Amino acid sequence: MLVLCGLLPTGYMNASIPNPLKDASRVEPRISALLSQMTLAEKIGQMSQVNAGEGYAPDYLAEDLRAGRIGSVLNVVDVGVINELQRIAVEESRLGIPLLVGRDVIHGFNTIMPIPLGLAATWNPGLVQQGAVVAAHEAASAGINWTFAPMLDVSRDPRWGRIAESFGEDAFLTSQLASAMIQGFQGENFSSPGSIAACAKHFAGYGAAESGRDYATTDISENELRNVHLRPFNAAIKAGVATLMTSFSDLNGVPATGNEFLLRQILREEWSFDGFVVSDWDSVRQLQVHGLTENDKESAFAAATAGVDMEMAGDAYSKHLAALVEEGRLSVEQIDAAVANILRTKFRLGLFENAQTDPASLPDIASGQALDTARKAALQSVVMLKNDGGILPLSAGKLASVAIIGPMADAPYEQLGTWIFDGDEQLSVTPLQAIGSLLGSDVEVRYLRAMETSRSKADEGFDEAVEIAGDSDVTLLFLGEESILSGEAHSRADINLPGDQAELVQRIRRTGKPVIAVIMAGRPLTLTNIVNHVDGILFAWHPGTMGGPAIADLLFGIESPSGKLPATFPRMVGQIPIYYNQKNTGKPPFPGGVIHIDEIKTRAPQTSFGMTAFHLDAGYTPLFSFGYGLSYTRFEYQDIRVSAPETPLGDTFSLSATVSNVGKVAADEVVQLYLRDPVASVTRPVRELKGFRRIRLEPGQSMVVEFTLHTDELAFYGRDMRLLTEPGKFHAWIGGSSEASLGTQFRLIEAD
Ligand code: NOJ
Repeated sequence: MLVLCGLLPTGYMNASIPNPLKDASRVEPRISALLSQMTLAEKIGQMSQVNAGEGYAPDYLAEDLRAGRIGSVLNVVDVGVINELQRIAVEESRLGIPLLVGRDVIHGFNTIMPIPLGLAATWNPGLVQQGAVVAAHEAASAGINWTFAPMLDVSRDPRWGRIAESFGEDAFLTSQLASAMIQGFQGENFSSPGSIAACAKHFAGYGAAESGRDYATTDISENELRNVHLRPFNAAIKAGVATLMTSFSDLNGVPATGNEFLLRQILREEWSFDGFVVSDWDSVRQLQVHGLTENDKESAFAAATAGVDMEMAGDAYSKHLAALVEEGRLSVEQIDAAVANILRTKFRLGLFENAQTDPASLPDIASGQALDTARKAALQSVVMLKNDGGILPLSAGKLASVAIIGPMADAPYEQLGTWIFDGDEQLSVTPLQAIGSLLGSDVEVRYLRAMETSRSKADEGFDEAVEIAGDSDVTLLFLGEESILSGEAHSRADINLPGDQAELVQRIRRTGKPVIAVIMAGRPLTLTNIVNHVDGILFAWHPGTMGGPAIADLLFGIESPSGKLPATFPRMVGQIPIYYNQKNTGKPPFPGGVIHIDEIKTRAPQTSFGMTAFHLDAGYTPLFSFGYGLSYTRFEYQDIRVSAPETPLGDTFSLSATVSNVGKVAADEVVQLYLRDPVASVTRPVRELKGFRRIRLEPGQSMVVEFTLHTDELAFYGRDMRLLTEPGKFHAWIGGSSEASLGTQFRLIEAD
């Protein structure tokens, strides 16, 4: 039997290949030498990032570049323009300091991978890393050397539009994928060609925006902040991330961009971060709008004091830092520290050695390999939520006709999702195209868009849709949200399928023919109103450039679905926040202990329903849980073992289970390990993901999957906000979702 070794601890991707440009003994003297020659104005220039935007000729910026007033530009993507900007900075400014050129390369540059939430559904760090390599190479060949990704905000609210950009609700999964993505962008320690600097954002707490409304206030206890929201950022730093971006949001009364606790105490003192911190877009000046400062000058003071090294797209630093230093409110040492952080990144990237880009030295845009990676990522990201009676996979040989209906079936732009500034919709292969080429002329494909957009409220196309569906052997309904309905500032209060899509489903259902829904969306949706009206559901997120072929392969059984949910799907919006690793409460609900509002008798006694933590109209379970996802085969989990009943603190131990493919087709499975610390000095979640592994099993094949953990990986922040591992009993489960039932127990004991 094959034994897989367990996951390494978070941060396992610590860069290991030595890069002389990162060698502190060489870099630090270069920074000091440069700083000693810089005027205050030149230093403040390094702390200022300018929106160069499309269409700005280098001339527009030339004077400021020559005078050393710009340290970084963003949003220029023409390699000729960028090379010219770099040339002016290097050859015509007094000290020749090259530029950081930033861009939102979030899930691909020209070739688009699934949205980050879709990438998270792959539970495949290696693939996420490969996707970031593709993105880095394509972006680098345009002259970009810094991406504003990955976004590491733990997101437990599907109303929040930016959940699309996140890796979902779990800090451990987010940490693992963050490390992988950072290594993909930055290469082995920036040493590979085409590497670009990454930026872990938004520090911190942004994902907890009240009611999922973007930019809204966050109020997070320090314990929750440390145990959940900060963990991925800590992992990113361990993985060597070059930069961090502050959050727009207010955290416990102090907006993140002016938050010394975050930017000094946590980031510099506790985590020893030596890269630099950039504000979010104009978020320095927004400190005034938050109500923290009186004017731009005070905002510059608050942000610089808190530890924001570079201001993005605002002018509070360029206008006011000099006066603040001259007045003695900011010291030159404070300014020097910020500039050193920025210069360190420029040295590490090798920009002082060569700031020019030669696209010919990098792989072609949308190369075969890039498209293969996008296709594989899309394939592994799709989660099969329902498959009644094994309706899927469809057997092409048994079909005479297929109806393809819906606004997302042939929407090359919409399938790319949010944040695709440089994505090329011409490269997109849609499901309609891919199914057509897969089926060839043997099966008749009847296509009707039926709705202009996913939001359409007009049902004019529905009669024809019903007719086509009624005449076909099976209907594939391509539903969801257009890309503009998620992403920054695109939150929704109602997360049902928008427009009249639910009605379309119900009308098609009445034909009595089999119906499969393929849903593309930027967030978990409430599918309660359609789930019983379809036979199968593939949830495909926004799958990117190669979404079509991936979906076609899954529908027709070329490959089995293997994506698993990175975020819980609620039954209804009122359940939010609902996530798998909740606390137990003093009155936990239980199966059978729940009554539905319709069953309540009038004048029923107050105490007659068990008095536990559930909603009368929604119960307490989600529609689909974190980690859930069906397959065309069936996996059986058996024989869970722990290496020792007791492990002393400071040691490692392992947990394993035998996973068997007892179905008829080869398939991937994501094996998940969950732990619970049932008694602790602060209450702990009912389950926490502590390991996962994507495996592939042939029919009849079994594998022992083993996870090795250090006792430190069971640590949490306690009452005094120190990280500690407490001895005592733990529960463990291994299975294919957060509802895994195969469990065991073990103990951690004090070391001798
Ligand atoms: C604002 C967004 O919040 C941030 O994530 C992005 O990187 C910047 N704008 C730059 O476009």
